Amino acid sequence: MAIEILKGNLADFPALGELRITEGGYLVLEDGVIQGVHSRLPQCYAACPVIDYGSRIVMQSFADLHLHAPQYPMLGMGMDLPLLEWLQTYTFQTEARFADTDFARAVYRQLARELIENGTTRVCMFSSLHTDATLILMEELSRAGITGYVGKVNMDRRGVPGVLEETTEESIRETLRWLEGCEGIRGIAPILTPRFTPSCTDELMAFLGATAAERGLRVQSHLSENLQEMELVRSLHPDCPRYYQSYEKFGLWKDHTVMAHCVHSDREERDAMRRANVLSVHCADSNVALCSGIAPVRTMLDEGVWVALGSDMAGSTMLHMLDVVASTIRSSKVRRIHSQWQEPFLTVEEALYLGTTAGHRWFGAGNGFAVGDRLHAIVLEDSALPSVRPLSVRERVERCVYRRQEHCITAVWADGRQVL
Ligand code: GUN
Ligand code: FE
Repeated sequence: MAIEILKGNLADFPALGELRITEGGYLVLEDGVIQGVHSRLPQCYAACPVIDYGSRIVMQSFADLHLHAPQYPMLGMGMDLPLLEWLQTYTFQTEARFADTDFARAVYRQLARELIENGTTRVCMFSSLHTDATLILMEELSRAGITGYVGKVNMDRRGVPGVLEETTEESIRETLRWLEGCEGIRGIAPILTPRFTPSCTDELMAFLGATAAERGLRVQSHLSENLQEMELVRSLHPDCPRYYQSYEKFGLWKDHTVMAHCVHSDREERDAMRRANVLSVHCADSNVALCSGIAPVRTMLDEGVWVALGSDMAGSTMLHMLDVVASTIRSSKVRRIHSQWQEPFLTVEEALYLGTTAGHRWFGAGNGFAVGDRLHAIVLEDSALPSVRPLSVRERVERCVYRRQEHCITAVWADGRQVL
């Protein structure tokens, strides 16, 4: 039994809008599992070694619930087209390169490194349709100490002939090969990943729904991101007045299903999310970058829909979750402006909760630094920023969001281990 004690200004988000600060506090771990958060060290630990982070902020790490690993090579480029044209013009071509496993290894190693440096310790991620590259991605994330879920993408229609395409039969066969190949990769589990309704035939969707049920696998996809996309789904599934029904009818709409975007989901679709305990992943920067719209996050939260954050790299221009949190707040303020100030914007505490606890809960964690959870934490160093007066820890947390500095994260703990 190994006791480790972290000392610093502890900051966690036990509930929506709640920032709990324990100044000069002690976070006690036993074999990587949180035993407690204390403002004074209990006597029984007096002889245990302490890792002293001084005045730095020890905060919960981030959970990125939606991003596309094979789009990393195009991050920060090609942001001038709406979704469907963007996919055909830039995205599919970029993903096609992951047929090359050497390329995949090099890119995914770099991506895993950057995620850890950014303090993203849990992910729910899309790969490409390539089985071998997907296995490499899972290995590289695991090697870096990241935990979470990765999906081999299924797409048996509307790809790019000869560049990025698979037949239904191939998609099914490769999915089974991938599920076999990824057994035993530490910390990274498979999640079934129909790209989105327009990319998958009914036969493929039915196979994925049946496989999810048989094997107890989770499901992720995209939902109601863009109006043109929704029109396309309606034409492909005239029996489904709502987009979500094109997943529901194949058994893909269930507890813990992850649906990215939900920008244009109406009351009925949002109610269906709440009833099924589907997670809606808000990707604020992507939704602006691709001119998709701004999701009604405040409304979803008021209605009791489960919302977490995703970078949606590279539909967005950013991977760092501190930037994603800032863009989430900014987007919510645009909605406030356009609602004649009726809709409250998201506060720093609320957006950070969505980027931390709300996402970590999808992986089974509790609220904030919860006793019994394996530690997922970052250490924030903000001394490079000028301070003309003493700042409270709350002010420092806020400034780290709005004025993010390179290398402001100096240590990272994932799944109870220090990984940076
Ligand atoms: N819908 C289907 N594929 C994608 C993708 O790669 N990115 C985004 N943002 N939406 C999608
Ligand atoms: Fe996406």
